[in-house]
Amino acid sequence: MYYPEEVVEEIRQKNDIVDVISGYVRLQKKGSNYFGLCPFHNEKSPSFSVSPNKQMYYCFGCGAGGNVFTFIMEYENYTFGEAIQYLADKAGVTLPEVEYSEEAKKKESRRAKLLEANKEAAKYYFYQLRTEQGAIGHKYLQDRKLSEETIKQFGLGFSLKYSDDLIQYLRKKGYPEDIIREAGLANVDEQHGMYDKFWNRVMFPIQDINHRVIGFGGRVMGDGKPKYLNSPETPIFDKSRNLYGLNFARTSRKNGIILCEGYMDVIAMHQAGFNQAVASLGTAFTSGQANLLRRYTEAVYLTYDSDEAGVKAALRAMPILKEAGLSGKVINMQPYKDPDEFIKNMGAEAFQERIEQAENSFFFSIRMLQRDYDLKDPESKTKFHQEIAKRLCTFQEEVERDNYIEAVAEKYNIGFENLRRLVIGYAAKTGLVSEATRPKSGIQSKQTPQDATKRTQRLFLTWLVEEPKLFEKIQRYITPEDFTTELYKKVATKLFDDLEMNRFNPAAIISMFTDEEEQKEVASLFNTKLEQLETKQEREKAFHDIVVNVKKNSYEQASANLGADVNALTKVIEGKKALQELEKTHIYLD
Ligand code: UTP
Ligand code: MN
Repeated sequence: MYYPEEVVEEIRQKNDIVDVISGYVRLQKKGSNYFGLCPFHNEKSPSFSVSPNKQMYYCFGCGAGGNVFTFIMEYENYTFGEAIQYLADKAGVTLPEVEYSEEAKKKESRRAKLLEANKEAAKYYFYQLRTEQGAIGHKYLQDRKLSEETIKQFGLGFSLKYSDDLIQYLRKKGYPEDIIREAGLANVDEQHGMYDKFWNRVMFPIQDINHRVIGFGGRVMGDGKPKYLNSPETPIFDKSRNLYGLNFARTSRKNGIILCEGYMDVIAMHQAGFNQAVASLGTAFTSGQANLLRRYTEAVYLTYDSDEAGVKAALRAMPILKEAGLSGKVINMQPYKDPDEFIKNMGAEAFQERIEQAENSFFFSIRMLQRDYDLKDPESKTKFHQEIAKRLCTFQEEVERDNYIEAVAEKYNIGFENLRRLVIGYAAKTGLVSEATRPKSGIQSKQTPQDATKRTQRLFLTWLVEEPKLFEKIQRYITPEDFTTELYKKVATKLFDDLEMNRFNPAAIISMFTDEEEQKEVASLFNTKLEQLETKQEREKAFHDIVVNVKKNSYEQASANLGADVNALTKVIEGKKALQELEKTHIYLD
């Protein structure tokens, strides 16, 4: 645990979950809960619920869930410690000196040190840009038509022609060598020892969504190779989960995000007023980045370079966007190569027009496909149509598919019915049906007996949390020992202790776990969907069944362990007795 439990609790209680989440998600009250569109996966109708009673959130679509700390961790990409600090700050709670566990302390302070070192380096580069030796870098940026304001906004800088001036500077500031190295700011080899990673380059600090510097890109001035040198991945720099410029773009309040290829494109766009522009970090666009974008927008405009490499990159990004539930469009920048050049030559207004004319990504991909076929040759033309049909199969909703069939048929002068038949033919052959029913998040696969046991235990815990007064009725039958996995046992122990003392605070139980995935799992224990039953009689029977099954599963597990586990025998005897008693007992729900 990072902070004393009371402090964590105080912070949690001072941050009402509905208030906090309302700052990120539009919520509507329905019954005793609030609902909204889940920020963690793509959906059209709300399955994301926030419970003021339980002080928890849970998404019935993707299983995201937890308390207010979990939400901040997931949304802001924070660790547990960072979420606590953030919410303490928000509620005006002063944190005591931290009581980290040794391991947590090491990890947390290491991350903090790496962030600090990067920030310090960014300040250093920024300063050097304005020195005599850095003037050449400054001039380079000015020649590329960047204003002073833009240079400042993006914190652009310069790395000098010395081999270790940054290292020396950081050392003087008290940073040990291993931190400098782990931050990716220096390299080491046998011949030269440790030397600066970046050297005689214009520096682009890369920031996360919270404006913290997590790495750098450095550009040569002129034609050297590599054109850009980038920081390696480090504990604070995950290239697949960050985007250049997103720290500004996330609050741009524009319709859609513009995804470009390079740092310079992003900067030129922001300078021209398109502050919704972002770029990936010298690597291909990833699904992690798509999911990140999904939190802020529904539409992504691709402005990749107009060359063949750019087309390829755009075609690769499209299925990734689609999978994340984002609609993709392609901005045509002809006759220019990239947005930077386009804006320099044509200006912002012309670019705005291009945004409005952006081509739907499906049409774009078909248009690119067409280049491989000769439409004057019937055979080639047929193949082209077949390929179109194949691709139309990827639309799983019938209405959407039909709309696309109609649009493509018209555009390429194919008979609508012909094309439709072709699509249906392919769908049957290639098993579109199975594709359509494939669960997106892979939640439901085959249930094992262990899964069923866990599910029963979750139903039980959820029911208990919804109706805590049932505790006294089941107390004599069920104990925390009946839970068959460690995490469940730990949760049940705390919940039973609390209920025993007439305290009821399930959200606090989540804070016992510092790991996001564990918090999510704990939240799921308290948020299993209970069947909506009409009559009291039905409900009593359902609850009775659940209690019996929890006991039965535990009894069976103990029986199987007889001989292996010394406690098993006692458990078996107790279990048998409890089950017999339960059989004769009616549990009243009021
Ligand atoms: P570009 O070559 O299109 O660069 O590469 P750019 O951003 O438009 O820069 P200018 O206008 O030529 O100065 C696009 C992106 O690919 C990555 C960088 O992230 C760059 O912004 N890249 C490119 C590298 O990481 N290394 C390279 O050597 C080249
Ligand atoms: Mn470029």
